[in-house]
Amino acid sequence: MTPTNDQFIYVIFGASGDLTKRKLIPALYSLYVLDLLPDKFAIMGASRSDYSDASFREVMIKAIHEFKEIEETKHIDRFIEKIFYTPVRFDETASYQKLKQRIEGIRNDFGISGNTIFYLSTPPALYGIIPGQLAAAGLNKEDDGWKRLIIEKPFGYDLESALLLRDTLLEQWDEEQLFRIDHYLGKETVQNLLVTRFSNGIFEPLWNRNFIHHVEITSSESIGVEKRGGYYDQSGALRDMVQNHLLQVAALTAMEPPSSLEPEAIRNEILKVFQSLRPIKYKDIEKVAIRGQYVASTIRGNVITGYREEEGVSTDSHTETYAAIKFYIDNWRWGGVPFYIRTGKRLPTRVNEVVIHFKPTPHFLFSQDTDCKSCNQLVIRIQPDEGILLKFGMKTPGAGFEVENVSMDFHYSELSSHRIPSAYERLIYDSIKGDSTLFARSEEVIQAWKFLMPVIDAWRNGKDVPLHGYPAGTWGPEHADDLIEGRNMTWRYPCKNLSEHGGYCEL
Ligand code: BG6
Repeated sequence: MTPTNDQFIYVIFGASGDLTKRKLIPALYSLYVLDLLPDKFAIMGASRSDYSDASFREVMIKAIHEFKEIEETKHIDRFIEKIFYTPVRFDETASYQKLKQRIEGIRNDFGISGNTIFYLSTPPALYGIIPGQLAAAGLNKEDDGWKRLIIEKPFGYDLESALLLRDTLLEQWDEEQLFRIDHYLGKETVQNLLVTRFSNGIFEPLWNRNFIHHVEITSSESIGVEKRGGYYDQSGALRDMVQNHLLQVAALTAMEPPSSLEPEAIRNEILKVFQSLRPIKYKDIEKVAIRGQYVASTIRGNVITGYREEEGVSTDSHTETYAAIKFYIDNWRWGGVPFYIRTGKRLPTRVNEVVIHFKPTPHFLFSQDTDCKSCNQLVIRIQPDEGILLKFGMKTPGAGFEVENVSMDFHYSELSSHRIPSAYERLIYDSIKGDSTLFARSEEVIQAWKFLMPVIDAWRNGKDVPLHGYPAGTWGPEHADDLIEGRNMTWRYPCKNLSEHGGYCEL
């Protein structure tokens, strides 16, 4: 990353929330320490809470100490002077006038240009309201510098609300001003999917239906819903993880090589994948989608609460904390290759990976089993223990020709001279630079909703569609194994460490 000379004011709505403390301010601080920000910039917190500049700064100092991504602390005093705060009542026009005056005041005092980013880190219900109020106050006008709006997920709650939100935003903002954040795209290892595929001559010739048996994408979390029960119970695993993060990962795995690294060239290829998703038929839902919800269990003597007992969750909730789907991408590269996505809370470990399962050899010369248990696999580990692992057969030393599966692995941690920047650091930096490559375009989001709507509808309305209970700390409903096509085939059961493999990993 190279320093940006664009001066700016970064306005964070919802500044008293968790995301600001845990991710946004620590990421801005890292960029500052790394000298990637210009001399002239300011950060303005805006939320309902009644902070002054001084009291907000105190909270941010604590947040930096607690969540910093960079060891250096000696720059905190200088950085904190760039932070200001204005209380805002989100639906009150007068509040935006005050905010405008405050922004103009800071601009004049510090000689900062009119470039402004508005980051919506608020409850999604405000995504339609705040941009409208900003526009009414003239804060979307670009006469004195660019104006950008960053919107956190979820972008809508279903297809209908996403379309409505899109249209509402486009009434006053241009698509080029909108940056829909999907923090998975900011992850270094997700971007590395592109590099692994398109900078190596050896993978791309194999990356198609002739050689690949199926593709598996897993995102498991060992934590439950923590303090977010209220939000999560309205959302569920499908909306929370699949509609956005995991379909984006699938798109980067499946897309065609872009003609260049221009944002539009990459986003066009991503969109084509979304447009090629084979529609799911309502009558097939039970065959291609499995939902589950964790129930109480005891892990190493500790009692783990079930989902329905979590704070903010309804006691008869039907919200899924686990979702697995099987789908196809109908194009020449992928015709007939099943893709599987699974995600869940309270699974045995936190792991995020893409596994490319290659087809078996056309003829079994050795003692390999014929059901692909010993087929080649390329595991692209997104987190933790970021890296890549290739599994292949080797001769077991000794008489005869016994074949054993071995692994060749690369761990990012071995590149000790390189620090992996956080996803937010990268995305905030890109938003300042105006690079929208790693942000979701409107059509992508809409296509993703369109694709998942049959499942969403079936799970919303179909009380008969089973919701499988799974004990906290297990790999979700056993039924999910039935999704995987092929004799004796199951999901990979990954562990915290890339090279370890097994059903019961460290929690
Ligand atoms: C968020 C979801 O978008 O992503 C959370 O709302 C989830 O429920 C989180 O825990 C996972 O992100 P990461 O970066 O920890 O994999």
